[in-house]
Amino acid sequence: MSKRYTITAALPYTNGPIHIGHLAGVYVPADIYARYKRLTGNDVAFICGSDEHGVPITIKAKKEGVTPQDIVDKYHAIIKKSFVDFGITFDNYSRTSAKIHHDTASEFFKTLNDKNEFIEEVTEQLYDEEANQFLADRFVTGTCPKCSNEEAYGDQCENCGSSLNATDLINPKSAITGNVPTLKETKHWFLPLNKHEDFLKEWILKGHKKDWKPNVYGQVKSWIDDGLRPRAVTRDLDWGIPVPAPGGEGKVLYVWFDAPIGYISATKEWAAQEGKNWEPYWKDENTKLVHFIGKDNIVFHCIIFPAMLKAEGSYILPDNVPANEFLNLEGKKLSTSKNWAVWLPDYLEDFPNQQDVLRYALTANAPESKDNDFTWKDFQARNNNELVAIFGNFINRVVVLTNKYYDGIVPEASEFSEVDIETLATVKAYPSVIESSIERYRFREASQELMNLARLGNKYLADEEPWKLIKTDDVRTKTIMFVALQIASALATLCEPFLPFTSIKLKGILNTNENSWSDISTKDTLITSGHQIGKGELLFSKIEDKTIQEQLDKLEASKKANDAANKEIEPQKDLINFDDFTKLDMRVGTIIEAEKMPKTKKLLILKVDTGIDTRTIVSGIAESFTPEEVIGKQVTVLVNLAPRALRGVESEGMILMTETPEGKLVFVNPDTTVNSGLQIS
Ligand code: 2FM
Ligand code: ZN
Repeated sequence: MSKRYTITAALPYTNGPIHIGHLAGVYVPADIYARYKRLTGNDVAFICGSDEHGVPITIKAKKEGVTPQDIVDKYHAIIKKSFVDFGITFDNYSRTSAKIHHDTASEFFKTLNDKNEFIEEVTEQLYDEEANQFLADRFVTGTCPKCSNEEAYGDQCENCGSSLNATDLINPKSAITGNVPTLKETKHWFLPLNKHEDFLKEWILKGHKKDWKPNVYGQVKSWIDDGLRPRAVTRDLDWGIPVPAPGGEGKVLYVWFDAPIGYISATKEWAAQEGKNWEPYWKDENTKLVHFIGKDNIVFHCIIFPAMLKAEGSYILPDNVPANEFLNLEGKKLSTSKNWAVWLPDYLEDFPNQQDVLRYALTANAPESKDNDFTWKDFQARNNNELVAIFGNFINRVVVLTNKYYDGIVPEASEFSEVDIETLATVKAYPSVIESSIERYRFREASQELMNLARLGNKYLADEEPWKLIKTDDVRTKTIMFVALQIASALATLCEPFLPFTSIKLKGILNTNENSWSDISTKDTLITSGHQIGKGELLFSKIEDKTIQEQLDKLEASKKANDAANKEIEPQKDLINFDDFTKLDMRVGTIIEAEKMPKTKKLLILKVDTGIDTRTIVSGIAESFTPEEVIGKQVTVLVNLAPRALRGVESEGMILMTETPEGKLVFVNPDTTVNSGLQIS
């Protein structure tokens, strides 16, 4: 039966591009679900947009010397384009800086305020005296009171996942100046979650929500069991939606108050463009509202947003929130700040027209019930061993043989054998097999069922061997090819949610676009005798080891470059006076001999002509240079450093070096050859 679905995907923060963690956790499963629901005849609004407020955006803008609007304009365009190029079929991809969103969020706040659903309270908040600013959320770091992680943020600890208030942090430090904050009084609006505790308990714990994923249900239950407290929904910031209430001057709505309302404003914007009424998508009890999110967003979508919707009074509540766990990359946590990620725009550039390979690899290995690891080797294996060797191979054999034997015309079937009848019946069952996995939000399982259908096709051809029978039994060969073509046609439709680009290509090759999802189980013939199919075209191609190695190298290189760029400049040491300086005797020296210090990795024993004498200096440079490389080099030497023994060899001075961003040592030396012994002053 056709139903109305409002499907939302978490609004991405607009301070960087999309990476594979976002895709695997949220956007690929959401797109599979939305495509599947459309294919099965439902009325779908698939909604997303850029989350453009919040502290990280202002921090990034400050760092780059631009405005927050500049940052969000840049990334909104990048994110929006990459979603389109990757085949994510949002009905609307909006943004929270849009006027319609500011109006909708303001209205929502005003309604709650008018209904006395907030508590207004003056509390002491952290304040940076030097920056003249209150410190909320990511503007403050400190030690997590729950797990002692010293790098927790004012809103969340990324180590233990706890959601925090800035004042909970132990040893807080301003992210703007590094200063220790003071406490200052300020007024804010709080949503009393405690007031909604009974309803939430009833709705989630006792009600039908037991069919939510265990990871989601578990997190929500532990929050409720801990006891709910009022949450501030406003902030003392200048980037965001102004608080529309007396006393709200200079304050904005908390980003997590406005962002989920973004789903509603994006639906309104879309409905206006389509000439539709937005309200049934949010207010009709028969509409199924489903939020696709990552696990760090669970509390906001399962407790805070439902409490807001309930307090407002006219909205439906989510039917399900199928949150995924996290995806790691090559055994390490994905990290935007450490540049340990595979970015979608880079993937699209490096693997043109191979969107489906990534979609498939991320789905087949999705972090649905626990954190999972993306490796480039697994990506290669999913492509080479499954998409190429199973799916592509089956289609290729069917298309090549049909062209070779019958000039591409679907042959007549004669009498079906028992195997044919069984095979065709199995094909008919596939829509409901896949459907049952999708309805339980098990997209990995669903993608494997799809692959099983291609496996069935391969097995059928391998068992029936039309390439042998063609020599002896023309009639039977035709029937076999007819059955194989039915399987290929079923694949063309059923793969659409998972492999949408492949589906279009395959429908092109089969020269048919007629079958709906339900046709696969109801129609006896999906592609009829006499129908002309097109020529073969490879659906997938093998990915070589070299390509994978290039990606691994790129990952390491970009992480190193990022580490170097973020390397903190050491603060200046205590002042010295001129007399202190003149005590340092630095000379130009020439290395005349060099050898490795036995049984060490780092040390070279050098003989250096200092102009005064030739002396031994032990230097920790063996990981950057071979002895041969340094002989003849002119270097800066501190010659009056008191001698000291290193591994039993007396070292009489020090060579001055520095490190490149890549971590290689380089000499600080004169750029023209000069006499050894010249003083450096
Ligand atoms: O975690 C995030 O990336 C948030 N920007 C998600 C927001 S979802 C929503 F509620 F808008
Ligand atoms: Zn913690």
